[in-house]
Amino acid sequence: MTIEQLFKNNKAWITEHLNNDPHFFENLSKKQEPEFLYIGCSDSRVTAEELMGLHPGEVFVHRNIANLVPNTDLNSMSVINYAVNHLKVKHIIVCGHYGCGGIAAAMQQSDLGLLNPWLRNIRDVYRLHFKELESITDETTRNRRLVELNVQEQCINIIKMAEIQQANLERNLVVYGWVFDLSTGKLIDLKIDFDTILQKITTVYKITK
Ligand code: CO
Repeated sequence: MTIEQLFKNNKAWITEHLNNDPHFFENLSKKQEPEFLYIGCSDSRVTAEELMGLHPGEVFVHRNIANLVPNTDLNSMSVINYAVNHLKVKHIIVCGHYGCGGIAAAMQQSDLGLLNPWLRNIRDVYRLHFKELESITDETTRNRRLVELNVQEQCINIIKMAEIQQANLERNLVVYGWVFDLSTGKLIDLKIDFDTILQKITTVYKITK
């Protein structure tokens, strides 16, 4: 596909929307009131809006390699802060995916240069769940479990944030951990037991009164 084709696609996209609703872009330009914040992987096969059947204006999106929310990452922290404090999103979703190249790369014993510190966050997840992961002998099964545990740990990183704890108290803001299965197209809710996790980590990470 050529770059010129992308502009042709854009024209067709505009026509399609205007045919359905002549005021579509006029309304879109006024404001955004998304109910969801979606944090997912940059993987080209894992789209955000499309796989959830959402349209422009309905979801605030942040994507990076392996859907990470590192504790000192100003980028993801700013996205979360803005989504919670200003857009007042009702739900936060962290969505990983099976077959994640970032997860696989973190499990290789190779020097990947600039990617090393980013992928180290995944190695830390592995260390936190070392016993469970080491007990899985099949590599694919182990990587799939690491994808799930990585989502869980990123959700925990979000729960550590003051604005999240405050929004949880004030308006019951919820964080969800999901996985997208590329081979079936299905979204899977990991049903992470945040109440139990919260109780366990509250004493360490609580920063609201
Ligand atoms: Co990925």
